[in-house]
Amino acid sequence: MTPKTVLITGASRGIGLEFVRQCLARGERVFAACRSPQSAHRLAALASDRLHIIPLDVADADSIARAWQIVHAQTEALDVLINNAGILLDDEKISDNLAALDFERTIQVFRVNAVGALMVAREFLGMMRQGGIIASITSGYGSLTLHTHSHTYAYSASKAALNMFMRALAHDRLTRGLCVVVVDPGWVRTDMGTDAAELEPAESVGGMLRVIDSLRPADTGRFLRWDGAEMPW
Ligand SMILES: NC(=O)c1ccc[n+]([C@@H]2O[C@H](COP(=O)([O-])OP(=O)(O)OC[C@H]3O[C@@H](n4cnc5c(N)ncnc54)[C@H](OP(=O)(O)O)[C@@H]3O)[C@@H](O)[C@H]2O)c1
Repeated sequence: MTPKTVLITGASRGIGLEFVRQCLARGERVFAACRSPQSAHRLAALASDRLHIIPLDVADADSIARAWQIVHAQTEALDVLINNAGILLDDEKISDNLAALDFERTIQVFRVNAVGALMVAREFLGMMRQGGIIASITSGYGSLTLHTHSHTYAYSASKAALNMFMRALAHDRLTRGLCVVVVDPGWVRTDMGTDAAELEPAESVGGMLRVIDSLRPADTGRFLRWDGAEMPW
């Protein structure tokens, strides 16, 4: 079987970096996209002739268009797009105080976590192989059903928006033959998840890759957890 070609955003650290590591270990060809390749030292250390590190800021349409050119020059098609890049405001890590919420920064969170993921998906849609997968890394905080607290207004709402964007994309005729899903990685030990988190990146990403491997076009539009459990919207 031909090795898969995978594009991963937010690949400089955390969950994205672990996706790159595991995909390379599986023999896949990886386009690892990050905002600042020159300072992505841990990514560069994974050096392989199957690793292509490319600049991509998911909140910048011009940057996405340039990334498309770079990828297109090196491959005709992608099997998997992993929309992983995401931000959580430091304020929201320490406070759930509505009075402290900065609305300008809230919009920036939406730009990266929701709009950016859809912009990347739209740009690369024409490059997706039949049977290909677009997996966007969401959060349990994006579930309206599970959201019975007032933490992380901006982050949670941005992930709910991401979920809706991807649910709509899953039902768009443009993605016929593809599988579009959102995946909750669990609570993971990264800069965002902090050291208090339950899961190592390796466990979460290993689980998510098993989920991605199992997907068929008929699974399009699903919201799944890292271990394959169905998540409530
Ligand atoms: N960790 C958890 O417990 C957890 C739980 C649920 C969901 N998630 C989701 O999982 C994904 C990865 O999170 P993580 O824990 O690995 O976070 P992280 O350690 O903070 O890493 C975030 C990654 O996103 C990149 N990024 C941020 N803004 C970007 C932009 N505008 N364009 C391109 N890349 C950008 C960062 O790049 P720089 O290095 O350039 O900043 C970094 O590579 C996110 O979508 C997050 O919401 C995480």
